[in-house]
Amino acid sequence: MPEPDRPTPLDAAPRLAAALGLARLWIKREDLAGLGFGGNKIRQIRLILAEAKAAGADTVITTAASQSNFCRALAGCAAREGLACHLLLRRAGGMEMQGNLLLDHIFGTHISWTDVTDPWDPAIEGELEAIAAAVRARGGTPHLVRLPGRTAALAASAWAHGAAELAADLAAVDARPDAVVVACGSALTACGLALGLTRAGLSSRVVGVSVQQPLARLRPWCDDVIARTAALLGWLPRDAAERLVLTEDQIAPGYGRASEASREAVLLAGRTEGLVLDPVYTGKALAGLAATVGKLVPSGGSAVLLHSGGAPGLFLHASEMVPR
Ligand SMILES: Cc1ncc(COP(=O)(O)O)c(C=O)c1O
Repeated sequence: MPEPDRPTPLDAAPRLAAALGLARLWIKREDLAGLGFGGNKIRQIRLILAEAKAAGADTVITTAASQSNFCRALAGCAAREGLACHLLLRRAGGMEMQGNLLLDHIFGTHISWTDVTDPWDPAIEGELEAIAAAVRARGGTPHLVRLPGRTAALAASAWAHGAAELAADLAAVDARPDAVVVACGSALTACGLALGLTRAGLSSRVVGVSVQQPLARLRPWCDDVIARTAALLGWLPRDAAERLVLTEDQIAPGYGRASEASREAVLLAGRTEGLVLDPVYTGKALAGLAATVGKLVPSGGSAVLLHSGGAPGLFLHASEMVPR
């Protein structure tokens, strides 16, 4: 069985709080979770690998962009669990042996490349099935991991449980923050948090800062994920969907690309707290928090920023980070 989740620290960030006009700010240091540069995916991957092992798999297969934090975390956790890992990566994201791709290599991952550019293109399924067939032909037992696809509710449930840990951290410092802010790609983390905080009886809003999908797509998807995850856990969703507030003003100039606001956010976190963010996920989450003070989060209020990891990607954005 995979090792149990290790609690991650909740750090106070007083200088960053003051710079944002907040009375108190905490950073939930999910970047310190588990293996291979950590991140919000580690709790999800532990559940996914437990399911794969229970099904007798010896190889996990998944697909994403070439610099995917999820793929890198899956590769590291699979190595730790003694499972083979096969990644189908999108060539369009760049093939430079850097950042997460370099780590995939270090973790001994098998890599195939696809020319498909849209992760939802049905052609991807055929390519994954071909990899699974090749594993079977070698006598192996493959397990396909489709995040957010079939695995969505299971992955969101990891953060429903993670929210209980966060609620306990907050109780220990006698805090009831106005908001918990997190970057949203698939929004499985944000959905799980909204459900888990509801269950824990905390009134904090979850502010999901979309870095990829417009709200017209993300909102109905989140409502569905919350309902499916609640059903999987046997919980009542109560007001979980309403407490999740999504924003789309940080997506520009596009997924995987730094913005001026995220560049400034990375520099602000570094200079006030010695905290390392990246400009495409956590930097955009902090920029989203800054933009929301006085609106979703009252000026002089309090918040938690979930540091969802992503440090390996920072170094690919070096030229955008250097002050011009
Ligand atoms: C560093 C980082 N933060 C946040 C996210 C978003 O997580 P979710 O897909 O659960 O919304 C991701 C997703 O890849 C990520 O890599």
